[in-house]
Amino acid sequence: MDKDVDNNMVKIIDGKEEAARIREEIRIETEELKREKRIAPGLRVILVGDDPASQAYVRNKEKASAEAGIDGQTLRYPASITENELISVVKKLNSDPVVDGLLVQLPLPKGMNTQKVLDAISYEKDVDGLSPLNMGKLLRGENPLFVACTPKGIMHLILSTGIELKGKEAVVVGRSNIVGKPMALLLLEKHATVTICHSRTKDLGEVCRRADVLVAAVGFPELIKGDMVKDGAIVIDVGTNRVDGKWVGDVEFEPASKRASFITPVPGGVGPMTIAMLLENTLIAAKRRAGII
Ligand code: GUN
Repeated sequence: MDKDVDNNMVKIIDGKEEAARIREEIRIETEELKREKRIAPGLRVILVGDDPASQAYVRNKEKASAEAGIDGQTLRYPASITENELISVVKKLNSDPVVDGLLVQLPLPKGMNTQKVLDAISYEKDVDGLSPLNMGKLLRGENPLFVACTPKGIMHLILSTGIELKGKEAVVVGRSNIVGKPMALLLLEKHATVTICHSRTKDLGEVCRRADVLVAAVGFPELIKGDMVKDGAIVIDVGTNRVDGKWVGDVEFEPASKRASFITPVPGGVGPMTIAMLLENTLIAAKRRAGII
């Protein structure tokens, strides 16, 4: 969608529409897999505790799975479950033949060793792309089985703009395992010159202004101001911050739109793509089980 912001025709990247298109393709392929191979892609999401945001995310995953014909089920456990009990649940699902994809919703309750739990997930079922083997393969440029859903979805959106990333300056703000680090590696794979910024970066604005592609994934409302955006930049806003009952991104949308050539809205930009990529990864896992890829 083109939007005229003070004579700058910024294009709004419609993640919702792109995600809907991908989800429809997945639905059709899932139907074929069921018809021809008698295999229904199976996804299990483990939710521990009662974090309201996590509960909402998990409900969205359940709904999207059902719409795609994927057998998506959530296993809910109280925050009192021990780390070892949780690891046993993961191991049981690792060896369950009808489970293709397995995801532990994050964050886990305080006091639990997230790394240890994620390490227990079979890398062949790790549709979240967070296991050491999948992340390690991404780091080595070796085709991991699965790439984390949010950065994978962002790459779709960036490439949908038609940009040639080779030699471009890409700046990723945020260094989380789930978004920032894999994002930087995917951009590097496409030969961009990549900088990762974080809370200790000295002059964030100065670094961001270099970016032809700017990805903001810090979880701080409107940290990226309009004057931190280079003219013509592609701006990807991963932030979903709740402020006064409204969703606000990590980027100050209106002033950034005046400079950007493309920008993702919040909501309706990156968020819908994350779920679409989870379904895509689950379908890939099921196709591997069927022996067709
Ligand atoms: N919590 C918020 N986003 C995600 C995600 O993509 N994967 C997992 N496992 N937990 C999350």
